[in-house]
Amino acid sequence: MKILVTGGAGFIGSAVVRHIINSTQDSVVNVDKLTYAGNLQSLTDVSDSERYFFEHVDICNAAEMARILNEHKPDAVMHLAAESHVDRSITGPATFIETNIIGTYVLLEAVRAYWSSLTDAAKKAFRFHHISTDEVYGDLPHPDEQPQGQPLPLFTEKTAYAPSSPYSASKASSDHLVRAWLRTYGMPTIVTNCSNNYGPYHFPEKLIPLVILNALEGKPLPIYGKGDQIRDWLYVEDHARALYTVVTQGVAGETYNIGGHNEKQNLDVVYTICDLLDEIVPKNGSYRDQITYVTDRPGHDRRYAIDAGKISRELGWKPQETFESGIRKTVQWYLDNQHWVENVKSGAYKSWIEQNYEKR
Ligand SMILES: NC(=O)c1ccc[n+]([C@@H]2O[C@H](COP(=O)([O-])OP(=O)(O)OC[C@H]3O[C@@H](n4cnc5c(N)ncnc54)[C@H](O)[C@@H]3O)[C@@H](O)[C@H]2O)c1
Repeated sequence: MKILVTGGAGFIGSAVVRHIINSTQDSVVNVDKLTYAGNLQSLTDVSDSERYFFEHVDICNAAEMARILNEHKPDAVMHLAAESHVDRSITGPATFIETNIIGTYVLLEAVRAYWSSLTDAAKKAFRFHHISTDEVYGDLPHPDEQPQGQPLPLFTEKTAYAPSSPYSASKASSDHLVRAWLRTYGMPTIVTNCSNNYGPYHFPEKLIPLVILNALEGKPLPIYGKGDQIRDWLYVEDHARALYTVVTQGVAGETYNIGGHNEKQNLDVVYTICDLLDEIVPKNGSYRDQITYVTDRPGHDRRYAIDAGKISRELGWKPQETFESGIRKTVQWYLDNQHWVENVKSGAYKSWIEQNYEKR
């Protein structure tokens, strides 16, 4: 197969591209605008492959998307390009509307024109796989709100949408567009909604890499509110395997929830990282001493948790990492890859991109 991946220089997209090149015989066309979150240095392991192609393009550029589709003739599209950071969506929602909603619309229309030109068999086999988040479902009751003895609910594929932030509202909107292109035009789309990812190559503004790097630099470890928000953590390489399973074996028109069965309070995640660092790079006192509580994020969802039963039953996917094994690998990766971190933090990789790539 030839798979067009949007956002392949991002955290999850780069894991998907590495997985496809390293573990399958398929080819990848990576379409990425290289925003602050896109980093080609996350792809140096695979970028020399003859099966890897890069297009430095904004998905909002309809003419360029049409050119890329007609030139590369993909068998499937995996759409990951997005603005993805909730805090940034609160201070500046415009780019979220632009990329996540308008960009998805432009991409759907470009893909529909290309898909319409295929033979009937190729049309049927084609997949438009939209990668989304569990945040579209809003939040779930927290254990401290749930009456004693009552089981805690989980997000299923049938949970009604109730997004809370500009980020999750823009993703919800794009999910609706994708489903409408299936229902109205018959384009074979699939949506996946996944829980919080963590792992190597994660931009250091998100909780886990931020805490690891701040801890090592002796800086405060900021915790929103009481730190009792619950997230269901999935190791990014498990997500990449799930996405490849869905794009190759998933049924058109279906939605699959993807999660790690790892519900953790934010404070416990931070404690685990501190305890690992105490073990691997001990210092005087514990890294836990650097924890600082800060004012909670407005509209902060209290609990997310995924029922990933459908993808497990129907497609046989299960995560390979527990939170304990995945977080240990992640901490060790940041310790071993200071070069990647330094380039991201200093912005040095941006000037390298500007010298090497022309943007369209
Ligand atoms: N990170 C998570 O925990 C998580 C969980 C579930 C779902 N998701 C979804 O998975 C996808 C990828 O998330 P991520 O964490 O890798 O995001 P990321 O922010 O790390 O990467 C996004 C990538 O998209 C690119 N991009 C942004 N705007 C673009 C545009 N207009 N045109 C082309 N490329 C553009 C960026 O340059 C970057 O490479 C997103 O759609 C996100 O909503 C993320």
